[in-house]
Amino acid sequence: MYKKKPFFIVFEGVEGCGKSFQSKKLFKNLQKHKFQTLLTREPGGTKSAELIRNLILHDYFKKSKKDKFDKYTDTLLYLAARNEHVKTKIKPALQKKKIVICDRFIDSTIAYQVYGKKISKLFIDNIHSVILGGLKPNLTFVLKVSSKSSKKRLLKRKTKNRYDNFPQSFYKKAQNSFLKIAKNKKNYFILDASKNDNSLEKKIFDITSKYLKKK
Ligand code: TMP
Repeated sequence: MYKKKPFFIVFEGVEGCGKSFQSKKLFKNLQKHKFQTLLTREPGGTKSAELIRNLILHDYFKKSKKDKFDKYTDTLLYLAARNEHVKTKIKPALQKKKIVICDRFIDSTIAYQVYGKKISKLFIDNIHSVILGGLKPNLTFVLKVSSKSSKKRLLKRKTKNRYDNFPQSFYKKAQNSFLKIAKNKKNYFILDASKNDNSLEKKIFDITSKYLKKK
């Protein structure tokens, strides 16, 4: 028997790795097994955080560099969106002993802003220590993908995102950052998501079930 308990699951990985797809699959599978589950995403997840998301993503498409946000403004916007999201959606759901599945969380900030844009990690860690108040994922899935598969998936997308036009070297660098973050960490699972079959969905559900059974 599973005991009802707060449980926070995060999916991370580069664009086109299939994390949004897999988080939806896990959400459906948990619901099928009668777990009270919430599926959400970052940046965004609440009305106000989605407004900030639009601001961030819109800025990316600006042609002239001088019209764009400074990289610290951009980082603060991700963190502002996270603050809204954590306080008004994630924590209240966990308090109700729900399972929360989030498509991207703090490791995306470390991968893109710290490793990618060279933003000070101390700056981000300090803000996180205030806005998260000890909140940590119980389980993180990092999905790894070949550049061929991610490219194929991105080409199929109707709406283009912030990094969808970046060269393959950018994805490789971002993916390596995620792998570095996950290496040797407890409660992290690096899974290959290059294939388009349902074996990954099953693996993710099996790992999650094992964790949920733990006391
Ligand atoms: P998405 O494609 O998963 O919806 O994410 C939107 C973009 O935001 C994606 O290109 C990664 C980026 N991102 C960051 O740069 N830092 C962050 O902290 C988060 C959550 C997302």
